[in-house]
Amino acid sequence: MKYKLFGSKTGLPVSELILGGSQLGDRRGYGTAARDALQILAAYADAGGNYIDVSDTYQFGELEETVGKFIDHKRDDFIICTKYTRSSQPDPSVANAGNHRKAMRQAIEGSLKRLKTDYIDIYMPHFDDGVTTLEEIVRGLEDLVTAGKVLYTGLANFAAWKAASIAGAIPVSALQIEYNLMQRTAERELLPMAEHFGMGAMCYSPLAAGLLTGKYRKGASGRLTLSTPGGHLEDERTKMILDQTEQIAKEVDSTSGQVALAWVLSKGVFPIIGARTLAHLETSLSAVDISLNADQIMRLNQISTFSMGFPHDLLATVQQK
Ligand SMILES: NC(=O)c1ccc[n+]([C@@H]2O[C@H](COP(=O)([O-])OP(=O)(O)OC[C@H]3O[C@@H](n4cnc5c(N)ncnc54)[C@H](OP(=O)(O)O)[C@@H]3O)[C@@H](O)[C@H]2O)c1
Repeated sequence: MKYKLFGSKTGLPVSELILGGSQLGDRRGYGTAARDALQILAAYADAGGNYIDVSDTYQFGELEETVGKFIDHKRDDFIICTKYTRSSQPDPSVANAGNHRKAMRQAIEGSLKRLKTDYIDIYMPHFDDGVTTLEEIVRGLEDLVTAGKVLYTGLANFAAWKAASIAGAIPVSALQIEYNLMQRTAERELLPMAEHFGMGAMCYSPLAAGLLTGKYRKGASGRLTLSTPGGHLEDERTKMILDQTEQIAKEVDSTSGQVALAWVLSKGVFPIIGARTLAHLETSLSAVDISLNADQIMRLNQISTFSMGFPHDLLATVQQK
């Protein structure tokens, strides 16, 4: 596994693949049993992985407990990113969820306890709750950094103008977005904003929750057939993307999923790989060995193209390249 600097400001070397843990644990009724989750974490670390993405809400706190067990005695070797907003409780009271400081304080204390650590490397709201002011979020995050409980702050699932407003007030080192061959709209505003502020950009669902592995066209069942009615079905655009990904996989002697991950890596974004089984993890880890050539990247870009919209389309006609 190679290491890359996380963003242009932190100087923090992180493994090029981040391990995402939302499916590690089964308290929500779908995912990996805790014992297998520990095996997946160990295999990721053995491969050189040092960056684990969690959230208090994943498996209702179970994931943080498992990661806490795993990093015990070697905590400082890992970069732990965790998030708040949704709470670790299945049915939180209104005072326990959201982005306000009361929820933030309760959430971080819970995360520190479950992770058995006294600091979080990267801490962020899980999404914009639509209610809490940006000033409130800024002050809360800043206080956690000052208190030494958090090293770096980040944002997940915020509109670019809101994220930029926060990053204009305090250093924001990380951005977490959905980004993959199916979903590229972060290229409009969010990714340029991350670059402008020197944030490390990490993307969730790099395989579009499994769709880009191509397994559903082979009749497999999985998260998308179970949780999102019709989520595995192919419209015309999806079909073309999957066909092209499959074709390129043949050319480079790999799998469609590995090609999808290699494409994300080619964009300078850190994929957060979501492995539910050891076999998933091993396949995804091998994606770093694939080298896509310029023609293959261009074909993937073209097939997954999308409308940039205003003002980008207008600016493309008036600005010099
Ligand atoms: N900030 C946020 O709002 C947010 C949202 C979502 C996720 N995340 C983070 O991002 C991480 C990754 O997200 P994701 O799980 O959506 O990522 P993903 O990589 O797009 O999807 C992972 C899923 O793909 C399937 N899969 C993976 N490898 C496979 C293989 N070799 N063969 C067949 N199927 C395979 C598995 O689905 P099956 O279970 O169907 O087998 C697995 O659960 C999460 O763990 C979490 O840490 C953050």
